[in-house]
Amino acid sequence: MFSRLDRMIRRLRTQRACLDWAVGEIANLPGPILEFGLGSGRSYDHLRKHLPERDIFVYDRVVVAHPDCIPPDDRLVVGEFAETLPDAAVRFAGAAALIHADIGSHDGPASRALAAELAPLWVKMLKGNAVLLSDQPLTIAGLGELPLPPEAPGHYFLFRRAPLDEPSA
Ligand SMILES: C[S@@+](CC[C@H](N)C(=O)[O-])C[C@H]1O[C@@H](n2cnc3c(N)ncnc32)[C@H](O)[C@@H]1O
Repeated sequence: MFSRLDRMIRRLRTQRACLDWAVGEIANLPGPILEFGLGSGRSYDHLRKHLPERDIFVYDRVVVAHPDCIPPDDRLVVGEFAETLPDAAVRFAGAAALIHADIGSHDGPASRALAAELAPLWVKMLKGNAVLLSDQPLTIAGLGELPLPPEAPGHYFLFRRAPLDEPSA
């Protein structure tokens, strides 16, 4: 029987293991990092500390992060995803090396539906062989699901974009 504390710790350990795995995966894949879901800024802070040379762009409807974890104005896009993602899909078409989609709320069905709606736009932003990490399950052409790293004790969802010169699955 798991307490809420247990589940939170498992979620964060899993997220960190996946982020660390992704940092290694994109070491030789240039390109910006996109994060959807700034929240408290924890995962943004982790990414910028481990990828200090990369441009990291973050999207959220509100800015409630720890003051130390707020991206610079020119790297932060505030608004509803439905309004900001179409522009992002054009701006970053085929360019992103890594997308971290951490958009979930306590409403599981709504979170899954939102991820399914946004996933086609995320796919457009990824370059060939780029990586997408999602807190929600996804099934979409062009993304192949990968196993979690062994250090990840909980649920998260890892995908790699098909090489762009090959037909997508
Ligand atoms: C789980 S939190 C992100 C946690 C964050 N990655 C961290 O490590 O602190 C999810 C975030 O997604 C944002 N979000 C959810 N649905 C959204 C939407 N439709 N448009 C814009 N932002 C949204 C919420 O405001 C929230 O900050």
